[in-house]
Amino acid sequence: MPYARYRTHFEQNKNRPRPVVRTTHGVPAEAQAALLQTLQTFQLGETGEGRIAHQVRQKPLRAMDDDYLASIPLFVAEEGKHARILGDMVRACGAETLKHAWTESLFRRGRQLIGVRLKLSVLLAAEVIATVFYPLVASALDDGDFQRALSHITDDEQAHLAFHATFFHRHFGPTGRRLFCAFFFLLAWVACLTVLFDHRRTIRVLGIGFGRTARAIHQRVTETLRAVRTGDARPLWPALSNDPGEAFEQAFDLDRAVRAQGHVADFAQGTRLLAVQMQMRAGHREHRFGAR
Ligand SMILES: [Fe+2]
Ligand SMILES: [Fe+2]
Repeated sequence: MPYARYRTHFEQNKNRPRPVVRTTHGVPAEAQAALLQTLQTFQLGETGEGRIAHQVRQKPLRAMDDDYLASIPLFVAEEGKHARILGDMVRACGAETLKHAWTESLFRRGRQLIGVRLKLSVLLAAEVIATVFYPLVASALDDGDFQRALSHITDDEQAHLAFHATFFHRHFGPTGRRLFCAFFFLLAWVACLTVLFDHRRTIRVLGIGFGRTARAIHQRVTETLRAVRTGDARPLWPALSNDPGEAFEQAFDLDRAVRAQGHVADFAQGTRLLAVQMQMRAGHREHRFGAR
C-alpha cells in the first residue's frame, strides 16, 4: 500500500516531457565555467544505476512488495533521464560530458559495496544532496532553460528521497532504524563535505554560500532521519500531502491537457485554468525555495 502512491507517480511521471535545454540564458557569464564542472560531475553521478533494479528483482529484501519492485526500474529510468538532461546542459555550454571524476568514482564504489541495503543508503544520501543542491543552484540563476531543467530534476528527486526513506522505515524495526539513522547521519555528512569541497567554485561564484548549503543539507538530513523513524515522508515530497507540491502535479496535468487540446474552447474556463495554474506554480516555488 505505501509504495502504490510511488508506483502511480513513477508511472505517470514517465510521460512528463523532458525539458528543452538549448541556451545558457539565465546563467551569469562569470559562473559558466564553474557551473559546467558541477554539471559534468553530477551528470556522471546520475549515470548507471541499472544494476540495482536487477539485484532487487533477483533477491527482494524485507518490505519490497510488488509495487516497490515495479517502481525501482522506473526510478532508475528517471535517473537516466536526469543524466540526459544534464548532458544537454553540458552541451549547451559547448562542452562534452566526462568519462571519469573522483567524486563519481567514490559514489560508484559506494554503490558497489556489498549488499543492496548499503547501495540504497548511498542512493538516499545522493537524493539528500540532489534535493538541496539542484534547487540552490537553480535559485541562483535567472529564468531560462537551465533553471527550468534543474527545477524539473528537483521535482523528481523529492519523490526519490521520500521513496527510499519509506523503504528504510518499512525495512527496519525500531532498533534497526536507530542504528541505520546513526550510520546514515555520518554518511550524509561525508556526502555533504564532498559536495562543499568539490563544488566550492560554483558555490562561491553563484553566491550560494557554504554556510547556507551546509545548513540546508543538515535540515534535509534531519527531515530524512525523521521520515525513516516515523514513516511520514510528506515533508520530503510535498506531493504526498495536499499542499502546493500536489498542486504543482495537478498544474502539470492541466498544462498537458491544455497543450494536448491545442486550444481552450471556453475562454472563461481557459483564463480560470491559467490563473489556478500560475497560483499553484508560485505556491510550489515558495514552498521549495522560500524556507531556505
Ligand atoms: Fe537524479
Ligand atoms: Fe534521484
